[in-house]
Amino acid sequence: MSREIMQRNIDRAQQEIDNKKEIVKAGRMRQHYHFMAQTGWLNDPNGLIYYKGRYHFFYQYNPYYGFWDYMHWGHAVSEDMLHWEYLPIALAPSEIYDDHMRGGCFSGSAIEHDGKLFLMFTGTTNDGKGFEQTQCIAYSEDGIHFEKYEGNPVLTPPEGVPTHQFRDPKVWKHEDTYYMVCGASRENKAQALLYRSEDMIHWTFFNVLAESRGEWGYMWECPDFFPMGDKYVLMFSPMGAGERTVVYMVGDFDYGTGKFTYHINGEIDWGFDYYAPQSFLAPDGRRLIAAWANCWDWMPFWKDWGPTYKEGWCGSYNIVREVRMTEEGTLAFVPIKELESLRIDAQRQERLVLVSEDKEIKAGDGVSFELKFKIALEETDADRLVLFLRCGGKKKTACVFDFKNAQIYIDRNESDGWSKGISKSDLCLLGKKELDVHIFSDQSSIELFSDNYRNNHSNNIFAGDEQNGITIRACGGKVTVTGIETYGLKECNR
Ligand code: FRU
Repeated sequence: MSREIMQRNIDRAQQEIDNKKEIVKAGRMRQHYHFMAQTGWLNDPNGLIYYKGRYHFFYQYNPYYGFWDYMHWGHAVSEDMLHWEYLPIALAPSEIYDDHMRGGCFSGSAIEHDGKLFLMFTGTTNDGKGFEQTQCIAYSEDGIHFEKYEGNPVLTPPEGVPTHQFRDPKVWKHEDTYYMVCGASRENKAQALLYRSEDMIHWTFFNVLAESRGEWGYMWECPDFFPMGDKYVLMFSPMGAGERTVVYMVGDFDYGTGKFTYHINGEIDWGFDYYAPQSFLAPDGRRLIAAWANCWDWMPFWKDWGPTYKEGWCGSYNIVREVRMTEEGTLAFVPIKELESLRIDAQRQERLVLVSEDKEIKAGDGVSFELKFKIALEETDADRLVLFLRCGGKKKTACVFDFKNAQIYIDRNESDGWSKGISKSDLCLLGKKELDVHIFSDQSSIELFSDNYRNNHSNNIFAGDEQNGITIRACGGKVTVTGIETYGLKECNR
Protein backbone atom coordinates (compact mmCIF):
# COMPACT_ATOMS: atom_id res chain seq x y z
CA MET A 1 0.00 0.00 0.00
CA SER A 2 2.65 2.50 1.05
CA ARG A 3 4.54 1.72 -2.13
CA GLU A 4 1.47 2.78 -4.08
CA ILE A 5 1.17 6.03 -2.16
CA MET A 6 4.76 6.91 -2.95
CA GLN A 7 4.23 6.03 -6.62
CA ARG A 8 1.08 8.14 -6.75
CA ASN A 9 2.93 11.11 -5.25
CA ILE A 10 5.81 10.64 -7.66
CA ASP A 11 3.43 10.43 -10.64
CA ARG A 12 1.63 13.57 -9.56
CA ALA A 13 4.93 15.44 -9.24
CA GLN A 14 6.17 14.11 -12.61
CA GLN A 15 3.00 15.34 -14.23
CA GLU A 16 3.61 18.79 -12.82
CA ILE A 17 7.21 18.75 -14.10
CA ASP A 18 6.08 17.67 -17.57
CA ASN A 19 3.48 20.42 -17.70
CA LYS A 20 5.87 23.18 -16.71
CA LYS A 21 9.35 22.20 -17.81
CA GLU A 22 9.32 23.89 -21.24
CA ILE A 23 8.11 27.19 -19.80
CA VAL A 24 10.66 27.06 -16.99
CA LYS A 25 13.43 26.22 -19.47
CA ALA A 26 12.84 29.54 -21.21
CA GLY A 27 13.44 31.51 -17.99
CA ARG A 28 15.74 34.48 -18.52
CA MET A 29 17.73 33.79 -15.36
CA ARG A 30 18.35 30.06 -15.91
CA GLN A 31 21.99 29.07 -15.53
CA HIS A 32 23.92 27.96 -18.63
CA TYR A 33 26.24 25.33 -17.19
CA HIS A 34 25.36 24.92 -13.51
CA PHE A 35 23.17 22.05 -12.37
CA MET A 36 19.50 22.97 -11.77
CA ALA A 37 16.20 21.13 -11.42
CA GLN A 38 13.72 21.14 -14.32
CA THR A 39 11.06 23.08 -12.41
CA GLY A 40 10.42 24.29 -8.88
CA TRP A 41 12.71 24.57 -5.90
CA LEU A 42 16.02 22.77 -5.28
CA ASN A 43 18.25 22.88 -2.20
CA ASP A 44 20.85 20.50 -0.73
CA PRO A 45 22.75 17.97 -2.84
CA ASN A 46 21.71 14.50 -1.61
CA GLY A 47 23.03 11.02 -2.28
CA LEU A 48 25.85 12.06 -4.61
CA ILE A 49 27.48 8.91 -5.93
CA TYR A 50 29.27 7.45 -8.92
CA TYR A 51 27.30 4.28 -9.52
CA LYS A 52 27.36 1.85 -12.46
CA GLY A 53 29.24 4.20 -14.78
CA ARG A 54 27.41 7.46 -14.11
CA TYR A 55 27.31 10.24 -11.55
CA HIS A 56 24.00 10.26 -9.73
CA PHE A 57 22.90 13.55 -8.19
CA PHE A 58 19.84 13.53 -5.97
CA TYR A 59 18.57 16.80 -4.56
CA GLN A 60 16.17 18.30 -2.05
CA TYR A 61 13.29 19.12 -4.30
CA ASN A 62 9.88 20.75 -4.36
CA PRO A 63 8.77 20.25 -7.97
CA TYR A 64 5.63 22.35 -7.62
CA TYR A 65 6.91 25.95 -7.36
CA GLY A 66 9.99 28.03 -6.61
CA PHE A 67 9.90 27.86 -2.82
CA TRP A 68 10.91 25.31 -0.21
CA ASP A 69 7.98 23.23 1.06
CA TYR A 70 7.12 19.52 0.81
CA MET A 71 10.45 17.88 0.05
CA HIS A 72 11.04 15.12 -2.48
CA TRP A 73 14.34 13.74 -3.73
CA GLY A 74 14.92 14.74 -7.36
CA HIS A 75 17.32 12.63 -9.41
CA ALA A 76 19.59 13.18 -12.41
CA VAL A 77 22.54 11.33 -13.96
CA SER A 78 25.57 12.44 -15.92
CA GLU A 79 28.87 11.18 -17.26
CA ASP A 80 30.71 14.47 -16.86
CA MET A 81 28.74 16.39 -14.20
CA LEU A 82 27.88 18.97 -16.89
CA HIS A 83 25.34 17.32 -19.20
CA TRP A 84 22.42 15.88 -17.26
CA GLU A 85 19.64 13.45 -17.88
CA TYR A 86 16.74 13.84 -15.48
CA LEU A 87 15.32 10.64 -14.04
CA PRO A 88 12.02 10.14 -12.25
CA ILE A 89 11.79 11.54 -8.73
CA ALA A 90 13.46 9.03 -6.41
CA LEU A 91 11.61 9.71 -3.15
CA ALA A 92 8.33 11.40 -2.39
CA PRO A 93 6.75 11.78 1.07
CA SER A 94 4.34 8.90 1.60
CA GLU A 95 4.66 7.46 5.09
CA ILE A 96 3.62 8.40 8.57
CA TYR A 97 7.30 9.07 9.36
CA ASP A 98 8.07 11.32 6.33
CA ASP A 99 4.88 13.12 5.41
CA HIS A 100 5.19 16.42 7.26
CA MET A 101 3.39 18.95 5.05
CA ARG A 102 6.22 21.43 5.55
CA GLY A 103 9.03 18.89 5.53
CA GLY A 104 8.84 15.49 3.86
CA CYS A 105 11.98 13.60 2.84
CA PHE A 106 14.97 15.58 4.09
CA SER A 107 18.65 15.34 3.18
CA GLY A 108 20.80 12.23 3.22
CA SER A 109 23.27 10.16 1.26
CA ALA A 110 23.73 7.10 -0.97
CA ILE A 111 25.89 3.99 -0.86
CA GLU A 112 26.12 0.70 -2.73
CA HIS A 113 25.28 -2.30 -0.55
CA ASP A 114 24.35 -5.86 -1.36
CA GLY A 115 24.25 -5.10 -5.11
CA LYS A 116 21.67 -2.35 -4.55
CA LEU A 117 21.73 1.42 -4.32
CA PHE A 118 20.83 2.38 -0.77
CA LEU A 119 19.63 5.84 0.26
CA MET A 120 19.61 7.01 3.85
CA PHE A 121 17.46 10.09 4.44
CA THR A 122 15.76 11.98 7.23
CA GLY A 123 12.02 11.50 7.53
CA THR A 124 10.11 14.42 9.02
CA THR A 125 6.67 14.23 10.57
CA ASN A 126 4.47 15.57 13.30
CA ASP A 127 2.49 13.01 15.20
CA GLY A 128 1.82 15.29 18.11
CA LYS A 129 5.32 15.77 19.50
CA GLY A 130 6.40 18.67 17.29
CA PHE A 131 8.69 18.43 14.30
CA GLU A 132 10.08 14.90 14.49
CA GLN A 133 13.12 13.74 12.54
CA THR A 134 14.27 10.15 12.14
CA GLN A 135 16.71 8.33 9.85
CA CYS A 136 15.22 6.10 7.17
CA ILE A 137 16.33 3.76 4.39
CA ALA A 138 15.27 3.24 0.79
CA TYR A 139 16.83 0.98 -1.83
CA SER A 140 16.77 0.22 -5.50
CA GLU A 141 17.84 -2.63 -7.79
CA ASP A 142 18.09 -0.50 -10.91
CA GLY A 143 19.29 2.78 -9.35
CA ILE A 144 16.11 4.52 -10.57
CA HIS A 145 13.06 3.16 -8.76
CA PHE A 146 13.29 3.17 -4.99
CA GLU A 147 11.39 1.37 -2.29
CA LYS A 148 11.32 2.51 1.31
CA TYR A 149 12.38 -0.08 3.87
CA GLU A 150 9.30 -1.39 5.66
CA GLY A 151 11.01 -1.29 9.05
CA ASN A 152 11.63 2.48 8.84
CA PRO A 153 12.64 4.51 10.73
CA VAL A 154 15.95 2.82 11.48
CA LEU A 155 17.03 5.47 13.98
CA THR A 156 15.28 7.89 16.33
CA PRO A 157 16.96 10.77 18.20
CA PRO A 158 18.95 9.70 21.26
CA GLU A 159 18.18 10.95 24.76
CA GLY A 160 18.97 14.66 25.09
CA VAL A 161 18.73 15.44 21.37
CA PRO A 162 15.54 17.37 20.52
CA THR A 163 13.39 15.55 17.96
CA HIS A 164 13.64 18.46 15.51
CA GLN A 165 17.46 18.57 15.53
CA PHE A 166 18.52 15.14 14.28
CA ARG A 167 19.11 15.01 10.52
CA ASP A 168 21.17 14.62 7.36
CA PRO A 169 22.86 11.18 7.59
CA LYS A 170 26.05 10.72 5.56
CA VAL A 171 27.12 7.08 5.18
CA TRP A 172 30.48 5.49 4.29
CA LYS A 173 32.07 2.09 4.52
CA HIS A 174 35.35 1.25 6.23
CA GLU A 175 36.59 -2.32 6.05
CA ASP A 176 33.43 -4.39 6.62
CA THR A 177 31.47 -1.87 8.62
CA TYR A 178 29.16 0.98 7.63
CA TYR A 179 29.51 4.28 9.43
CA MET A 180 27.14 7.21 9.48
CA VAL A 181 27.53 10.76 10.73
CA CYS A 182 24.50 12.92 11.30
CA GLY A 183 23.81 16.43 12.57
CA ALA A 184 22.36 16.99 16.04
CA SER A 185 22.08 19.46 18.86
CA ARG A 186 22.40 18.90 22.60
CA GLU A 187 21.94 21.62 25.22
CA ASN A 188 21.84 24.05 22.35
CA LYS A 189 25.30 23.07 21.07
CA ALA A 190 25.96 21.38 17.76
CA GLN A 191 27.14 17.78 17.52
CA ALA A 192 28.12 15.32 14.81
CA LEU A 193 26.89 11.91 15.98
CA LEU A 194 28.64 8.77 14.78
CA TYR A 195 26.79 5.48 14.27
CA ARG A 196 27.80 2.11 12.85
CA SER A 197 26.12 -0.87 11.26
CA GLU A 198 26.96 -4.24 9.75
CA ASP A 199 24.00 -4.34 7.37
CA MET A 200 22.79 -0.77 6.69
CA ILE A 201 19.61 -1.52 8.63
CA HIS A 202 20.59 -1.99 12.29
CA TRP A 203 22.48 1.03 13.58
CA THR A 204 24.13 1.56 16.94
CA PHE A 205 25.47 4.75 18.42
CA PHE A 206 29.27 4.81 18.48
CA ASN A 207 30.41 8.22 19.76
CA VAL A 208 30.12 11.97 19.42
CA LEU A 209 32.49 12.46 16.50
CA ALA A 210 32.94 16.17 17.23
CA GLU A 211 30.97 18.94 18.90
CA SER A 212 30.68 22.68 19.35
CA ARG A 213 31.32 24.31 22.69
CA GLY A 214 29.29 27.21 21.39
CA GLU A 215 31.91 28.63 19.04
CA TRP A 216 30.64 26.48 16.16
CA GLY A 217 26.93 27.09 16.64
CA TYR A 218 23.95 25.13 17.96
CA MET A 219 23.28 22.74 15.07
CA TRP A 220 25.36 21.24 12.27
CA GLU A 221 23.45 20.58 9.08
CA CYS A 222 24.70 18.15 6.46
CA PRO A 223 27.87 16.92 8.17
CA ASP A 224 30.24 14.93 5.97
CA PHE A 225 33.32 12.96 6.99
CA PHE A 226 35.98 11.55 4.68
CA PRO A 227 39.66 10.58 4.54
CA MET A 228 42.33 12.72 2.84
CA GLY A 229 45.71 11.00 2.88
CA ASP A 230 46.27 9.88 6.48
CA LYS A 231 44.00 12.64 7.83
CA TYR A 232 40.24 12.95 8.06
CA VAL A 233 38.07 15.89 7.10
CA LEU A 234 34.82 16.90 8.76
CA MET A 235 32.68 19.39 6.84
CA PHE A 236 29.44 20.84 8.13
CA SER A 237 27.07 23.77 7.70
CA PRO A 238 26.69 25.32 11.15
CA MET A 239 23.59 27.15 12.32
CA GLY A 240 24.39 29.96 14.74
CA ALA A 241 28.05 30.56 13.79
CA GLY A 242 27.54 34.03 12.25
CA GLU A 243 28.75 34.45 8.69
CA ARG A 244 30.61 31.14 8.79
CA THR A 245 28.24 28.75 7.09
CA VAL A 246 30.47 26.09 5.49
CA VAL A 247 33.23 24.96 7.78
CA TYR A 248 35.84 22.27 7.32
CA MET A 249 38.09 20.70 9.93
CA VAL A 250 41.15 18.55 9.34
CA GLY A 251 42.40 16.15 11.97
CA ASP A 252 42.94 12.59 13.11
CA PHE A 253 40.32 9.93 13.47
CA ASP A 254 40.48 6.79 15.55
CA TYR A 255 38.20 3.93 14.46
CA GLY A 256 38.84 2.36 17.87
CA THR A 257 37.20 5.18 19.85
CA GLY A 258 35.13 6.94 17.18
CA LYS A 259 36.67 10.26 18.13
CA PHE A 260 37.92 12.95 15.74
CA THR A 261 40.50 15.46 16.95
CA TYR A 262 40.92 18.41 14.66
CA HIS A 263 43.87 20.74 14.48
CA ILE A 264 42.96 22.87 11.47
CA ASN A 265 39.74 24.59 10.52
CA GLY A 266 38.77 26.76 7.61
CA GLU A 267 35.92 28.04 5.49
CA ILE A 268 35.10 26.31 2.21
CA ASP A 269 33.54 29.48 0.81
CA TRP A 270 33.02 33.01 2.14
CA GLY A 271 30.26 33.98 -0.30
CA PHE A 272 26.56 34.30 0.48
CA ASP A 273 25.53 31.41 -1.75
CA TYR A 274 27.35 28.24 -0.87
CA TYR A 275 25.74 25.81 1.55
CA ALA A 276 25.40 22.15 2.55
CA PRO A 277 28.22 20.69 0.39
CA GLN A 278 28.29 16.91 0.11
CA SER A 279 31.33 14.88 -0.94
CA PHE A 280 31.62 11.85 -3.21
CA LEU A 281 34.34 9.91 -4.96
CA ALA A 282 35.06 10.03 -8.68
CA PRO A 283 36.15 6.70 -10.23
CA ASP A 284 39.70 8.10 -10.58
CA GLY A 285 39.89 8.68 -6.82
CA ARG A 286 39.23 12.42 -6.71
CA ARG A 287 37.23 13.60 -3.69
CA LEU A 288 34.61 15.96 -5.11
CA ILE A 289 32.04 18.23 -3.48
CA ALA A 290 28.86 19.87 -4.72
CA ALA A 291 26.88 22.48 -2.79
CA TRP A 292 23.62 24.40 -2.94
CA ALA A 293 24.10 27.89 -4.34
CA ASN A 294 21.80 29.81 -2.02
CA CYS A 295 21.23 30.50 1.66
CA TRP A 296 18.59 30.21 4.37
CA ASP A 297 16.37 32.82 5.96
CA TRP A 298 18.03 32.32 9.36
CA MET A 299 21.42 33.51 8.08
CA PRO A 300 22.48 36.99 9.17
CA PHE A 301 22.92 38.29 5.61
CA TRP A 302 19.79 36.76 4.07
CA LYS A 303 17.56 38.96 1.95
CA ASP A 304 15.32 36.50 0.13
CA TRP A 305 15.92 33.67 -2.32
CA GLY A 306 16.00 35.84 -5.39
CA PRO A 307 13.61 36.70 -8.18
CA THR A 308 13.73 33.38 -10.07
CA TYR A 309 10.56 32.07 -8.40
CA LYS A 310 8.74 34.29 -10.91
CA GLU A 311 10.10 32.01 -13.60
CA GLY A 312 8.88 28.94 -11.71
CA TRP A 313 12.18 27.76 -10.29
CA CYS A 314 14.78 28.50 -7.63
CA GLY A 315 18.20 27.04 -6.91
CA SER A 316 21.25 25.61 -8.58
CA TYR A 317 24.42 23.84 -7.47
CA ASN A 318 27.73 25.63 -7.40
CA ILE A 319 30.30 24.20 -9.78
CA VAL A 320 31.64 20.89 -8.56
CA ARG A 321 35.01 21.20 -6.82
CA GLU A 322 37.84 18.80 -6.16
CA VAL A 323 39.10 18.80 -2.57
CA ARG A 324 42.89 18.83 -2.27
CA MET A 325 45.15 19.03 0.73
CA THR A 326 47.83 21.73 0.66
CA GLU A 327 51.35 21.42 2.07
CA GLU A 328 50.39 23.06 5.35
CA GLY A 329 47.41 20.78 5.83
CA THR A 330 44.68 23.25 4.88
CA LEU A 331 42.27 22.43 2.06
CA ALA A 332 41.94 23.80 -1.46
CA PHE A 333 38.74 23.55 -3.51
CA VAL A 334 39.52 23.39 -7.21
CA PRO A 335 36.87 23.53 -9.97
CA ILE A 336 36.71 20.11 -11.65
CA LYS A 337 38.79 19.65 -14.78
CA GLU A 338 35.68 18.54 -16.72
CA LEU A 339 34.71 22.23 -16.92
CA GLU A 340 37.57 22.80 -19.38
CA SER A 341 35.53 20.94 -22.00
CA LEU A 342 33.10 23.89 -22.08
CA ARG A 343 35.74 26.43 -23.03
CA ILE A 344 35.38 28.35 -26.29
CA ASP A 345 36.93 31.49 -27.68
CA ALA A 346 40.21 31.31 -25.69
CA GLN A 347 42.12 34.59 -25.34
CA ARG A 348 45.45 35.25 -23.65
CA GLN A 349 47.33 38.37 -22.66
CA GLU A 350 50.72 38.07 -20.96
CA ARG A 351 50.87 41.34 -19.11
CA LEU A 352 48.72 44.29 -18.25
CA VAL A 353 49.97 47.26 -16.22
CA LEU A 354 47.20 49.32 -14.67
CA VAL A 355 47.84 52.80 -13.41
CA SER A 356 44.98 55.22 -13.53
CA GLU A 357 42.58 54.47 -16.38
CA ASP A 358 40.13 51.56 -16.44
CA LYS A 359 40.91 48.74 -18.86
CA GLU A 360 38.34 46.57 -20.52
CA ILE A 361 38.61 42.80 -20.62
CA LYS A 362 36.78 40.58 -23.09
CA ALA A 363 35.75 37.14 -21.88
CA GLY A 364 33.30 35.12 -23.94
CA ASP A 365 29.97 36.93 -24.15
CA GLY A 366 30.60 38.67 -20.83
CA VAL A 367 27.83 36.65 -19.15
CA SER A 368 28.95 33.03 -19.23
CA PHE A 369 32.72 33.02 -19.00
CA GLU A 370 35.91 32.06 -17.20
CA LEU A 371 38.63 34.55 -16.31
CA LYS A 372 42.04 33.73 -14.86
CA PHE A 373 44.97 35.94 -13.98
CA LYS A 374 47.74 36.59 -11.47
CA ILE A 375 48.49 39.78 -9.62
CA ALA A 376 52.28 40.33 -9.57
CA LEU A 377 52.55 41.64 -6.01
CA GLU A 378 56.19 42.71 -6.31
CA GLU A 379 55.25 44.97 -9.21
CA THR A 380 52.17 46.34 -7.48
CA ASP A 381 51.98 49.31 -5.09
CA ALA A 382 48.31 50.25 -5.38
CA ASP A 383 45.89 50.17 -2.45
CA ARG A 384 43.37 48.07 -4.35
CA LEU A 385 42.59 46.25 -7.53
CA VAL A 386 38.93 46.39 -8.49
CA LEU A 387 37.39 44.10 -11.05
CA PHE A 388 33.91 45.06 -12.21
CA LEU A 389 31.89 42.16 -13.59
CA ARG A 390 28.53 42.06 -15.36
CA CYS A 391 28.62 45.82 -15.98
CA GLY A 392 25.84 47.56 -17.91
CA GLY A 393 23.91 50.81 -17.43
CA LYS A 394 24.80 51.87 -13.91
CA LYS A 395 24.91 48.30 -12.64
CA LYS A 396 27.94 46.19 -11.80
CA THR A 397 29.39 43.71 -9.31
CA ALA A 398 32.72 44.76 -7.77
CA CYS A 399 35.38 42.20 -6.80
CA VAL A 400 37.91 44.06 -4.70
CA PHE A 401 41.43 42.93 -3.81
CA ASP A 402 42.29 45.31 -1.02
CA PHE A 403 46.07 45.05 -0.47
CA LYS A 404 46.12 47.73 2.22
CA ASN A 405 43.53 46.13 4.47
CA ALA A 406 44.38 42.59 3.38
CA GLN A 407 40.86 41.65 2.37
CA ILE A 408 38.89 40.38 -0.58
CA TYR A 409 35.34 41.57 -0.91
CA ILE A 410 32.57 41.16 -3.38
CA ASP A 411 30.07 43.95 -3.40
CA ARG A 412 26.70 43.21 -4.92
CA ASN A 413 24.88 46.32 -3.75
CA GLU A 414 24.82 47.63 -7.33
CA SER A 415 24.65 44.26 -9.07
CA ASP A 416 21.11 44.15 -10.31
CA GLY A 417 18.73 46.37 -8.33
CA TRP A 418 17.82 43.38 -6.22
CA SER A 419 20.90 41.77 -4.59
CA LYS A 420 22.51 43.22 -1.49
CA GLY A 421 25.53 42.81 0.71
CA ILE A 422 29.29 42.54 0.62
CA SER A 423 30.91 39.15 1.20
CA LYS A 424 34.34 39.44 2.80
CA SER A 425 37.37 37.34 3.54
CA ASP A 426 40.87 37.99 4.85
CA LEU A 427 43.63 37.93 2.29
CA CYS A 428 46.93 36.37 3.30
CA LEU A 429 49.69 38.28 1.47
CA LEU A 430 52.63 37.53 3.73
CA GLY A 431 55.57 36.08 1.79
CA LYS A 432 53.64 35.96 -1.50
CA LYS A 433 55.02 37.07 -4.85
CA GLU A 434 51.77 36.69 -6.69
CA LEU A 435 48.09 36.23 -6.04
CA ASP A 436 46.10 33.96 -8.35
CA VAL A 437 42.49 34.72 -9.28
CA HIS A 438 40.07 32.41 -11.11
CA ILE A 439 36.49 33.41 -11.83
CA PHE A 440 33.48 31.55 -13.22
CA SER A 441 30.53 33.65 -14.26
CA ASP A 442 27.16 32.24 -15.31
CA GLN A 443 23.78 33.85 -15.95
CA SER A 444 22.93 34.23 -12.25
CA SER A 445 26.14 33.62 -10.33
CA ILE A 446 29.76 34.61 -9.85
CA GLU A 447 32.25 32.22 -8.26
CA LEU A 448 35.66 33.59 -7.38
CA PHE A 449 38.61 31.40 -6.38
CA SER A 450 41.83 32.85 -5.07
CA ASP A 451 44.99 32.08 -3.09
CA ASN A 452 45.42 28.66 -4.65
CA TYR A 453 41.70 27.90 -4.34
CA ARG A 454 41.66 28.39 -0.59
CA ASN A 455 39.92 31.77 -0.48
CA ASN A 456 36.66 31.49 -2.36
CA HIS A 457 33.43 33.45 -2.76
CA SER A 458 30.23 32.23 -4.42
CA ASN A 459 27.51 34.82 -4.89
CA ASN A 460 24.32 34.86 -6.90
CA ILE A 461 23.47 37.98 -8.87
CA PHE A 462 20.52 38.41 -11.18
CA ALA A 463 21.89 40.59 -13.96
CA GLY A 464 20.38 40.78 -17.44
CA ASP A 465 22.19 39.84 -20.66
CA GLU A 466 22.85 43.49 -21.44
CA GLN A 467 25.10 43.53 -18.37
CA ASN A 468 28.08 41.99 -20.10
CA GLY A 469 31.00 44.37 -19.58
CA ILE A 470 34.17 43.62 -17.62
CA THR A 471 36.55 46.35 -16.48
CA ILE A 472 39.60 46.34 -14.27
CA ARG A 473 41.00 49.27 -12.29
CA ALA A 474 43.96 50.01 -10.02
CA CYS A 475 43.27 52.41 -7.15
CA GLY A 476 45.99 54.47 -5.45
CA GLY A 477 48.98 53.23 -7.47
CA LYS A 478 50.04 50.59 -9.94
CA VAL A 479 48.92 46.98 -10.34
CA THR A 480 50.63 44.51 -12.64
CA VAL A 481 48.51 41.64 -13.85
CA THR A 482 50.05 38.67 -15.68
CA GLY A 483 48.92 35.56 -17.53
CA ILE A 484 45.38 36.70 -18.28
CA GLU A 485 43.31 33.89 -19.78
CA THR A 486 39.67 34.23 -20.75
CA TYR A 487 37.17 31.77 -22.16
CA GLY A 488 33.56 31.76 -23.14
CA LEU A 489 31.69 28.79 -21.67
CA LYS A 490 29.33 26.67 -23.73
CA GLU A 491 25.80 26.23 -22.59
CA CYS A 492 25.13 22.67 -21.48
CA ASN A 493 22.21 22.62 -19.09
CA ARG A 494 19.45 25.01 -19.85
C1 FRU B 1 20.09 22.15 4.94
C2 FRU B 1 18.74 21.60 5.34
C3 FRU B 1 18.91 20.22 5.95
C4 FRU B 1 17.58 19.59 5.72
C5 FRU B 1 17.17 20.15 4.39
C6 FRU B 1 15.71 20.42 4.23
O1 FRU B 1 20.04 23.09 3.91
O2 FRU B 1 18.11 22.50 6.22
O3 FRU B 1 19.33 20.23 7.29
O4 FRU B 1 17.68 18.19 5.69
O5 FRU B 1 17.89 21.37 4.23
O6 FRU B 1 15.36 20.71 2.92
